[in-house]
Amino acid sequence: MTESAAEAKRFYITTPIYYPSANLHIGHAYCTVMADTMVRYKRMQGYETYFLTGSDEHGQKIERVAKAQGVTPIEYTDKIVATFQALWKRLLISNDDFIRTTQPRHMEVVQKIFQTIYDKGDIYKSEYEGHYCTPCETFFTERQLVDGNCPDCGRPTELIKEESYFFKMSKYQDQLLQYIEDHPDFIQPATRRNEMISFIKQGLEDLCISRTTFDWGIPVPIDDKHVIYVWFDALTNYISALGYGTDHDELYQKFWPADIHLVGKDIARFHAIIWPCILMAAGLPLPKQVFGHGWVLLNSGKMSKSKGNVVDPNVLLDKYGVDAIRYFLLREISTGSDGYYSEEALVKRINTDLANDFGNLISRTVAMIDKYFEGTVPATATEPASEFDAELKELALTVGNEAAAYLEKMDFPNALAAIWKLISRANKYIDETAPWVLAKDEQKKAALGTVLYNLMECIRISTILLSPFMPLVPGKVAEQTGQALEGRTWADGCQWGGVEIGVKVCKKEAIFPRIDPKSLDMPKENAKVATPAPTASKEEKVATEGKAEIAYDDFAKLDLRVVEVLECSKVEKADKLLQFKLKMGDEIRTVVSGIAKFYENPEELVGKKLVLVANLAPKKIRGIVSHGMLLSAATDDDSLLEVLQVAKADIPSGSTVS
Ligand code: MSP
Repeated sequence: MTESAAEAKRFYITTPIYYPSANLHIGHAYCTVMADTMVRYKRMQGYETYFLTGSDEHGQKIERVAKAQGVTPIEYTDKIVATFQALWKRLLISNDDFIRTTQPRHMEVVQKIFQTIYDKGDIYKSEYEGHYCTPCETFFTERQLVDGNCPDCGRPTELIKEESYFFKMSKYQDQLLQYIEDHPDFIQPATRRNEMISFIKQGLEDLCISRTTFDWGIPVPIDDKHVIYVWFDALTNYISALGYGTDHDELYQKFWPADIHLVGKDIARFHAIIWPCILMAAGLPLPKQVFGHGWVLLNSGKMSKSKGNVVDPNVLLDKYGVDAIRYFLLREISTGSDGYYSEEALVKRINTDLANDFGNLISRTVAMIDKYFEGTVPATATEPASEFDAELKELALTVGNEAAAYLEKMDFPNALAAIWKLISRANKYIDETAPWVLAKDEQKKAALGTVLYNLMECIRISTILLSPFMPLVPGKVAEQTGQALEGRTWADGCQWGGVEIGVKVCKKEAIFPRIDPKSLDMPKENAKVATPAPTASKEEKVATEGKAEIAYDDFAKLDLRVVEVLECSKVEKADKLLQFKLKMGDEIRTVVSGIAKFYENPEELVGKKLVLVANLAPKKIRGIVSHGMLLSAATDDDSLLEVLQVAKADIPSGSTVS
């Protein structure tokens, strides 16, 4: 650790750099919102902070997706990365930098680290023979596969054999175990720590860190036939963004080692094992913490484009606004475990917590100040207004510290629950003190003023404490209450007596209007709010990915038929669509399918026998009536797709598929 970083109150947090192989979904938003909340909280605590996110743009997966779309990889990533940045803006993500692994500033540092480790003798050339999961960009041995598939995502792997450079990771096994033992907070939460320890104890193998069968990567500095393995490339972003190894390494000196690498549980291994070994080999300090969070799941299982169940944060932002989405994600999901998203659960949180509890506290208080004090915030009397005042004040003075203690452990739901204790207590205080009764007696005017002052104080404190979670809330509450609530410190939210008296309140529309759940057009699968599942083991992961069991009779309702492609062409002005003329026995059918991006030359499908869901209700797509749906197989991230084909020429069109 550099001396200055150890002494100063500094905080450096990172998110994973996301693959631009598909659009970002609510799961990605979840991680970035957590990191943003954390860094906003630390800023309020007086820390000098640095917050990094970015995009992981190299590798075979990206190269293939770009090819499928007929563009160069950089043309492809430029476009999609712009959508990442736009989403972060909408979610009010306050990152200091956005690193792209295609930037020269990053590529130079990766080559430098590679060279350093090579010069040290920890990189050697050999041959890799084994399995590779392209969607996960991960090497696996035969032994590691589960039923012949990728142990992480369950998809088929590819057998590869090529000359490669290897990193002597095995050499660092004992040193890493020792480090983990000496630093109990290094891997969090504890379940993840245990998983990592047992993984390392099974034995670390040397890591293949170069590929030769594609070009889309950073060239190995000593051998330009090879590109550097995408994970070696990607992990280095955490220091390349700080200018490590350059003449301008002030940020590196100031902020490295990182305080928290916040990552999903599926990539904890890369951060808690591979990255520390790389750093040890390069002679650099290790990050202080790798926090592996759980996943956002749907009741129908994991989100995937091919299942068509991906939740787009932009759609939710349009409908519910940024604060509500951030609140839901942070409140609903226990940070280390998996949790469930459903629109019904989101609306329930908005109505119950935000509209009823928090919103009503503000609107009731503002309305009473308006009515009983001509809209001017009253002073507090020296005497308490009721027997409940002391308890209210005591609670108000503890919630900030309680929430902070949870935030230090990245426990967002409990931090919010702590703040809600005050909000709920204040609402109860209104009923207990019944200001409308006090208002009837002129003698009790001072007591009435105290009640409203106390309520305003609870609003002030809770709003300040909520600001890292919901950044627009302070401004909105300030407009209604006349209190200066933006840009406050955490300490401001831990003190009693900060209300500005004599300022005007302003009654406005509810900050969080209630949403009528009946007005929602929600898919059935989202209608049930599931209880959060514990961290998914591999078995659970498989179970949650499947759809619900169906009876044979349900399956038998499908009329699946072999069809022969007579014609196939792109639909004019609809670049996603292919139009097919299909022969099904004696019948000729027109079918439209949204798979154009996977077939640059649609004519290649002419003469092929495919499988059609023949009894699907006809549907008009771009003015063409489509009579059925062709079956296809796709990878979960939708980077590859193939229509199912019947290979045997003797099976005639019209035959049943069962
Ligand atoms: N590019 C790598 C990360 C390199 S970091 C040096 C990568 N990218 S990713 O886009 O596939 O995933 C980024 C992060 O999103 C991971 O931490 C992953 O766990 C997270 N999530 C993907 N789906 C998710 C949910 N449904 N829920 C929560 N997080 C999820 O891996």
